[in-house]
Amino acid sequence: MRMYDIILAKRQGKELTNEEIDFFIKGYTEGTIPDYQASALLMAIFLKDMTEREIVEMTRAMMDSGDKIDLSAIEGFKADKHSTGGVGDKTSLVIAPLVASFGVPMAKMSGRGLGHTGGTVDKLESIPGFSTELSKEDFFHQVAQIGLSIISQTTNIAPADKKLYALRDVTATIDHPAMIASSIMSKKLAAGSDGIMLDVKVGDGAFLKTLDEAKQVAKLMVMIGEGMNKPTRAILTNMDQPLGFTVGNSLEVEEARATLKGQGPKDLSELCLELSAGILVMAQKFTDPVTAYQALRDKITSGQALQKFDEWIKAQGGTGYEFKAPLFSQDVILNKEGYISRIQAQAIGEIASLLGAGRLTMEDSIDPSAGIRLYKKVGDPAGGRIATLYTDNEQVLVEAETRLLEAFEVTPQAPRQLPLIYGFVHQADEDIVFERYEKGEKS
Ligand code: URA
Repeated sequence: MRMYDIILAKRQGKELTNEEIDFFIKGYTEGTIPDYQASALLMAIFLKDMTEREIVEMTRAMMDSGDKIDLSAIEGFKADKHSTGGVGDKTSLVIAPLVASFGVPMAKMSGRGLGHTGGTVDKLESIPGFSTELSKEDFFHQVAQIGLSIISQTTNIAPADKKLYALRDVTATIDHPAMIASSIMSKKLAAGSDGIMLDVKVGDGAFLKTLDEAKQVAKLMVMIGEGMNKPTRAILTNMDQPLGFTVGNSLEVEEARATLKGQGPKDLSELCLELSAGILVMAQKFTDPVTAYQALRDKITSGQALQKFDEWIKAQGGTGYEFKAPLFSQDVILNKEGYISRIQAQAIGEIASLLGAGRLTMEDSIDPSAGIRLYKKVGDPAGGRIATLYTDNEQVLVEAETRLLEAFEVTPQAPRQLPLIYGFVHQADEDIVFERYEKGEKS
């Protein structure tokens, strides 16, 4: 088999065989296929697309290129949840104990943040004493004992995707729905869960900017998961403003815990309940998400969800989760009249990084207490205190304040309310369908 012929076939719009796809993924991972040939094939795929069979095979080959986690020693339906990346997205911290409080184990590996989005591992590590580096034995033991654990991903998951992602980044082939879907799913499928709940973010602060794009990627991801016999669902959610009111590691832990007490922001609470309901339906704890949603609410009201969170933090060595303010804090005041029409999520994420909450390269260290507390949502009257900035680095405060004020857009009239949840993608009989979210059906 020659790489030249594979490139030519795709350039001519032909469907590649499974053997050709495996040859490419294996050869590229091992370094026998050079970047210039891989780039040519990526561009041909970008222009001519792939069939569903090709997409599933590409995903399978990337998944098989590295380690695969075997969670079969843990009893029960092991659920995983993945967000395509947002600002202020602390949903995993809420969902893991909520779902575990129903006896559905959450054995999850998470990553660190890079760029304007944060990572669950960084948030957890902001808790004094919390360890995300458990041995495999301790990880399994903890899940058996208390039903959940989240650790940092140290194993070599889907190395083919890692290499190809870097190549796509420099060859203008990132934004291709099939390649995005197979890239994400290759890693999720290698992580060994029995079902996958995807939170596909749409909007300014997200990787996918439009609903159409997000729908397409979500449908492909569900198709791939279901095609490999892993129940998979997706929820399409708004990222045109940060989720909740906090961005920054320790601040987000505090907000997640408040949410488990029933005192969290409305958007964060609603999204966590919807994602958890989807997981409980996949795990067959409930037959429909509406009943699951109500049962989840009851777990919060009864204090059981909070109890599970505290049990989890203690089991991984955490000793306290109150937010400890860093050396410098500063309120930001907006002197404008009208209504907040937009809070640029990506800019807010970048400002939090500037304050020390995020990193630009994987080698950078982060400041657990740095971040931003927001006081407004889109639709609120403008004017007054909009945020408090927290940092140990006084020198960045002026720039952070200027950029934060620029990230808040104001109009004279109240803007149209943004939907938090656009809808769901799931398999219904043979089809993958998008179902619009009907607001208010749960209350
Ligand atoms: N995230 C990924 O992991 N892969 C993509 O291609 C895009 C976003």
